Amino acid sequence: MTRKLLLAAMLVGIGGCNFWYNEVPSPDLLMQKIPWFDHMIKSKAVHPYASAAVPRRTPAGAIPVGGGERDWHVGDLVLSAYVFDTLYANKLVRPATPPGPGARSGQDVFNIYCSPCHGYGGAGDGTVKEFITGIPSLLTDQARKRTDGYLYSMIRYGRGVMPLYGDRIYRRDERWAVVAYLRSLQANAPVTPVPGAK
Ligand code: HEC
Repeated sequence: MTRKLLLAAMLVGIGGCNFWYNEVPSPDLLMQKIPWFDHMIKSKAVHPYASAAVPRRTPAGAIPVGGGERDWHVGDLVLSAYVFDTLYANKLVRPATPPGPGARSGQDVFNIYCSPCHGYGGAGDGTVKEFITGIPSLLTDQARKRTDGYLYSMIRYGRGVMPLYGDRIYRRDERWAVVAYLRSLQANAPVTPVPGAK
């Protein structure tokens, strides 16, 4: 009985959708009624609402802007940094699984994107060091104490002067590979003191 009810509800639902997309006038018509709306809809080439297939399907292989992950931010403000780091970034755990097929190695990615500032060894002595102040060494005690999730989030979102790299290192497994590579750099180098620290 409950099943039949459920089925009936689903059919009404589906029927409702079809009615909505096929019978209701296109938003194009409404927009065209407003003369001062200089809208793409007037373009001869683009007819965004012409198809009844709304909402459109995501093309195969498309990646959501957020990478399919919950969004958070390492944050620039002290408060948001505290909240988001504690709630999200620090809770992330580095997966034990190796990177998937086609992933660039952590070393390659680090050398491409991070070394210009942080240096090939992570000591904060990259080639642009003289132009940008405040590039930290990643071999300090402080950087070593950061959680893996924190490093991952720095890569994804950046902070302050450090740009975000989440769009260029968009594969999660590559970001984790960079974290792993960073850890190996730290393990093989002596601890550098944070400048100004006692
Ligand atoms: C344009 C220069 C630049 C590039 C490129 C860059 N960083 Fe940074 N990075 C910085 C600066 C500047 C800071 C300090 C930001 C702050 O504290 O607000 C920083 C901070 C960090 C920190 C935090 C260190 C700590 O102790 O809190 C980590 C981790 C880090 N970067 C990793 C990376 C990785 C990994 C990459 C490559 C994906 C990268 N950075 C690329 C400039 C850069």
